[in-house]
Amino acid sequence: MSQPRLVFAIETSCDETATALVDVSTRRILAQSIYSQYAEHAPYGGVVPELASRAHLERLPYLSEHTLHQAGVTWNNVDAIAATVGPGLTTALVVGATFAKTLAVGLGKPFLATNHIEGHALSPLLAENSAPLAQSFLDNQEPYLLLLVTGGHTQLIQVAKPGHYTTLGSTQDDAVGEAFDKVGKLLNLPHPAGPAIEKLAATGNASAIQLPHPKTENPLGFSFSGLKTAVREYLTKHPDVNPADLAASFQHTVATLLARKTAAAIQTTGSRHVVVAGGVAANKAIRAALVQVCEQACTTFTAPPLILCTDNAAMIAYAAGLRAQHGLETGSLSTRVLPRWPLEDMAKSVQ
Ligand code: KG4
Ligand code: ZN
Repeated sequence: MSQPRLVFAIETSCDETATALVDVSTRRILAQSIYSQYAEHAPYGGVVPELASRAHLERLPYLSEHTLHQAGVTWNNVDAIAATVGPGLTTALVVGATFAKTLAVGLGKPFLATNHIEGHALSPLLAENSAPLAQSFLDNQEPYLLLLVTGGHTQLIQVAKPGHYTTLGSTQDDAVGEAFDKVGKLLNLPHPAGPAIEKLAATGNASAIQLPHPKTENPLGFSFSGLKTAVREYLTKHPDVNPADLAASFQHTVATLLARKTAAAIQTTGSRHVVVAGGVAANKAIRAALVQVCEQACTTFTAPPLILCTDNAAMIAYAAGLRAQHGLETGSLSTRVLPRWPLEDMAKSVQ
C-alpha cells in the first residue's frame, strides 16, 4: 500500500460515536465529530452495550458525512478508512468496524484495523504544542514516558517508537477512571463521574480529609480499590460531610499518587519526555500535578487538548496512519474485532 496521508477514522469502542479526518503527515485534524451517548445511558447508571451499538449505527452515517463536509473534501480525496477494532464492547466495535469496512470496499480504499489504546498512547502527538515531542520521537527516535489513564487502564508505559510499548507498571485492581466513576456513584453524581467530581471539587477543600495512599508490590504499579473503600467508609461514618470537600480530597489524593509514580518512572527510565493520555488526563488537578513533576525533573510535558483526552476518532486516524507510514501491520478486511487487545501485543504485529 502507498503510504496514506488523509485517513478517515471511526471510533465506536464504548459510548462515544466519533468520526475524524486527519492529515497524518502534518499531524493536523482536518475535521472531527463526536456524539456522546451520556443521555441514552444515564438512566441505567452505566453503559448498556445494546443501546450503545444501536446509537452508533443510527449516528454513523450522518457523523461521517458531516466530518467530510466540515473538512471540505470528498471521499475521493481520502486515502484510507480506519476503525477501532479493540479493545472495547464487542457489539459496539462490530458496528464501527463493519461500517468502516463497508465504506472501504465501496470506495476501493484500504481498511486499517486500529487499537484504541494505541490511539490514546499516540494522541499527545496531535496536541498543538507537540512539535518538540514529535521532533524527538518521530525524527530522532527518542522514547517517551506515557501515563495512560482511562476508564479501563492505568499504566506507565515506555513508548520506544510507533508499535513498541513496554509496560513499566499497571493497576493491580481498579483503573483510575473506574475509581472516579465509583466514587461519583457514592456521591450520587451522574456517570461517567470524572468531570462531575472535578466540577464539585472546585468548590471544596482538598486537604479537608486525609485519605490513604495504597501500597503496591511494583513501585511503579497502582492500586485504587482501597482508596474507593476509604471514601465509602468515610461517607458511612460522616454522612454530613461536605461532598465538595470529599471530592476535592479524593481528587487531590489521586493526583498526588499519579504524580509520585510518574516521578519514580522518570527516575527509573531517565526519560526526557513525558506525556499523559486518556479520559482522566482531562482532569486539570492531575495535569497540574504532572506539570510540577516534569518541571522538577526537567522533562518536557505534553498532554492532548481536552477533546482528545476522552474517546475520539482523530487519535484512531493518526495511530492507523502512523502505523501504515512505519510499515507496521494494519490488519485487513478479515480482521475481527478484539474485545481484549493489550497494547503490548502491538509489537508482535511489527513486520
Ligand atoms: O479514555 P476514556 O474516554 O474511555 C476509555 O477508554 O476508558 O476514559 C473515560 C474515563 C471515565 O472513567 C471518566 O470518568 C474519566 O475518563 N474522566 C475523567 C474526567 N473526564 C473523563 N476523570 C477525571 N476528571 C475528568 N475531568
Ligand atoms: Zn478510551
